Amino acid sequence: MLLHIPGLFSREEVQRIREALLQTDWADGKITAGYQSAKAKHNLQLPEGHPLAKEIGAAMIDRLWQNPLFMSAALPHKVFPPLVNCYTGGGSFDFHIDNAVRQPKGSPERVRTDLSATLFFSNPEDYDGGELVIQDTYGVQQIKFPAGDMVLYPGTSLHKVNAVTRGARFASFFWTQSLVREDSQRTLLFEMDTAIQQLTRDVPDHPALIQLTGTYHNLLRRWVEV
Ligand code: NI
Repeated sequence: MLLHIPGLFSREEVQRIREALLQTDWADGKITAGYQSAKAKHNLQLPEGHPLAKEIGAAMIDRLWQNPLFMSAALPHKVFPPLVNCYTGGGSFDFHIDNAVRQPKGSPERVRTDLSATLFFSNPEDYDGGELVIQDTYGVQQIKFPAGDMVLYPGTSLHKVNAVTRGARFASFFWTQSLVREDSQRTLLFEMDTAIQQLTRDVPDHPALIQLTGTYHNLLRRWVEV
């Protein structure tokens, strides 16, 4: 499942983030790429543990944990600290699949990359190219969302970033290990939860809601890994 999560940051907030990013020092994006994907990756990145990346990452996690859409769709167990990148001057990242397991620098904990996410800090009109192209079960999707919006997609997907031929594309990306490993199971639970939420708004006193909510939790209990 590919999901658009709008408005995690306001226009003013992403503006402040962009201004800070314009004034900082960047490193070659190959620093976090695996051996194979390093050959495909041409962009800039803030080094892991960079104070600005940490600050932006903490603000993002804070927002995400309060976002019902993210919580329901990702069922997050743990998150790899968000990284921040910049594509400019023809920079691109060819088709690849992300590494299955990630270990944050200086941490003993490893994160299985069930879900990938990209949060856009630049507005689509500020750069040409730079689409995130994702091959999922429904075909090829070209993603270029407004600044402040995020896309969430299965870590198993083949994806690339088209060359940025004008301007700069700032974004953050991160991985989530879900309580439910399989995308198909997470999708079922997300659709069921969405329907329950809608019924709770429309017919809050209907007795079947208790049964449906119970069934949701019993399915989750069957599939959850903690
Ligand atoms: Ni990737």
